[in-house]
Amino acid sequence: MKISDSEKRELESLYSSFFNNEKIRRLMDIPMHRGSNTFIHSFKVAKLAVKRGLRHKSVDLKKILVASVLHDYYLYNWRSDRSKLKGHGKNHPYIAAKNAADDFDIDEDIVKIIKSHMWPINFKEFPNSKEARIVNLADDHIALKEGLCSVSFKAKRRQKYMDDISHLFS
Ligand SMILES: [Fe+2]
Ligand SMILES: [Fe+2]
Repeated sequence: MKISDSEKRELESLYSSFFNNEKIRRLMDIPMHRGSNTFIHSFKVAKLAVKRGLRHKSVDLKKILVASVLHDYYLYNWRSDRSKLKGHGKNHPYIAAKNAADDFDIDEDIVKIIKSHMWPINFKEFPNSKEARIVNLADDHIALKEGLCSVSFKAKRRQKYMDDISHLFS
């Protein structure tokens, strides 16, 4: 779908308000997929999901953007707190959705997208909107790529990843 320059600017400024948000920056301290962190992961998912969203005729790009950035906003480190490990795959979307609703002004559609990002691991939460399926698949894609790269490869590229995710459209 075609979007106007002003819509583009609006999305870019929404993206950058999250990118520079102190609460969101806490995700840098949450490790993800061996050597990555949840901040880099979430913004990579957001960029890919918005890019894929643009290929569709009518989707809400703003919802895709916000839900992607917040989809892993669970804010605990299961690697240091092993008590959180059990059920993490199924439970973290609910925790992320609750934290996100507590800290940001988000609507029920965004909450649903966050909750369904782990389908089919959590089979109960089917992604039942186009936006939810786009976020779900973008998360799978990025997680798979992160899982395949070695820890040292990711450590060396941390600055490049930060540069890559510094803007939505670049
Ligand atoms: Fe997740
Ligand atoms: Fe994720």
